[in-house]
Amino acid sequence: MTILTNTATLPTPLGGSLVHRVRHLHEGETRGLPTLELSDRAHADLEMIATGAYSPLTGFLNSADYASVIERMRLSNGTPWSLPITLMVSRDEAAQAHGTVVLTREGRPVGLLEVQEQYTPDKAHEAREVYRTADAAHPGVAALYAAGEVYLGGPVTLFEVPRGAFPRHHRTPAEVREVIEARGWRSTVAFQTRNPIHRAHEYLQKVALELVDGLLLHPLVGSTKGDDVPADVRVQAYEVLLDKYYPRERTLLSVYPAAMRYAGPREAIVHALSRRNYGASHFIVGRDHAGVGSYYGTYEAQEIFSHFSEEELGIKILKFEHTFYCRTCSQLVSPRTCPHDGSHHLVLSGTRVRELLRAGQPLPGEFTRPEVAEVLREGYSRLG
Ligand code: ADX
Repeated sequence: MTILTNTATLPTPLGGSLVHRVRHLHEGETRGLPTLELSDRAHADLEMIATGAYSPLTGFLNSADYASVIERMRLSNGTPWSLPITLMVSRDEAAQAHGTVVLTREGRPVGLLEVQEQYTPDKAHEAREVYRTADAAHPGVAALYAAGEVYLGGPVTLFEVPRGAFPRHHRTPAEVREVIEARGWRSTVAFQTRNPIHRAHEYLQKVALELVDGLLLHPLVGSTKGDDVPADVRVQAYEVLLDKYYPRERTLLSVYPAAMRYAGPREAIVHALSRRNYGASHFIVGRDHAGVGSYYGTYEAQEIFSHFSEEELGIKILKFEHTFYCRTCSQLVSPRTCPHDGSHHLVLSGTRVRELLRAGQPLPGEFTRPEVAEVLREGYSRLG
């Protein structure tokens, strides 16, 4: 076992300090105020903002920051930020939403919004800039078009961190930072994922772990598109894998509560900046990060980082080429390390994996560890 002795120096959060806007609801404070029911995604964004995962944001974007983010991937003060974090409501809801609004889930108060501004965006323009397509078949664009047409901007407060689904693995950025400090990791690589872990993921993580002290496995557990594998199955797959194949003292499994937007390159930037807020010094970006279908080029999510200096990002991006198993090399490889052509390679798309699982077929061991395959098989049989 390796003992790490020195004290960790963690990267500063984006904007200099961790935003913290969580406090208990005071007796009677919501009485008589207008209410607004949040979607899953807006609730996730509320948590991300209030716990500092989206530092320096303190609320849903106002129109100046929104326009700046859309046009130049920066907040109006110049800080890098690539996704519009907005609260989209219907015209009827907007008509009621003035002053302090109580944010609810199933009618129960979960937070507050100080409405500073209401504005109506050009969604087709937003789609083209953020998603690089206005095609409503793109799941992120579809969600954008389906949501309300008025945006509410202003600071938020969260009453309680919603740890319900994964209490053991749910940590705020401050809590992840505490663990990193307690373990004395001088450098930490974060790994974003929305898919069941496979051998290529494991390979990227372990190559990175050769270079840094700790690995923050940070699966996204906010809403995903209908055919993605449910978060509880994915987290269970991580648990069995970590137990058997990862060095316990160098690994931290924690959930990332955000919703998936499938914005590919633009989402990769926020994924990285947010992991800096969680205390990571490094972030992995592989092939088609946060992509969907064929909307983005294989390495566009890596190339987009050239818009920013390393200093302003404040987190090092570890870029990996497409990784797969080579039967002749008998190991995980990429075009950088393997001389053989495609006939030697085992490449399974996410779609193919889902087809095999749905048909109750085994997944090849070169693709997925047997323990993970078993969790997925069970998960799928439960889903029917
Ligand atoms: S994502 O939407 O969260 O990016 P996924 O969980 O599939 O989807 O990917 C997690 C991370 O691993 C991303 O950085 C992605 O680019 C990378 N990745 C996934 N599969 C591969 C692969 N076969 N080769 C290289 N990188 C990969």
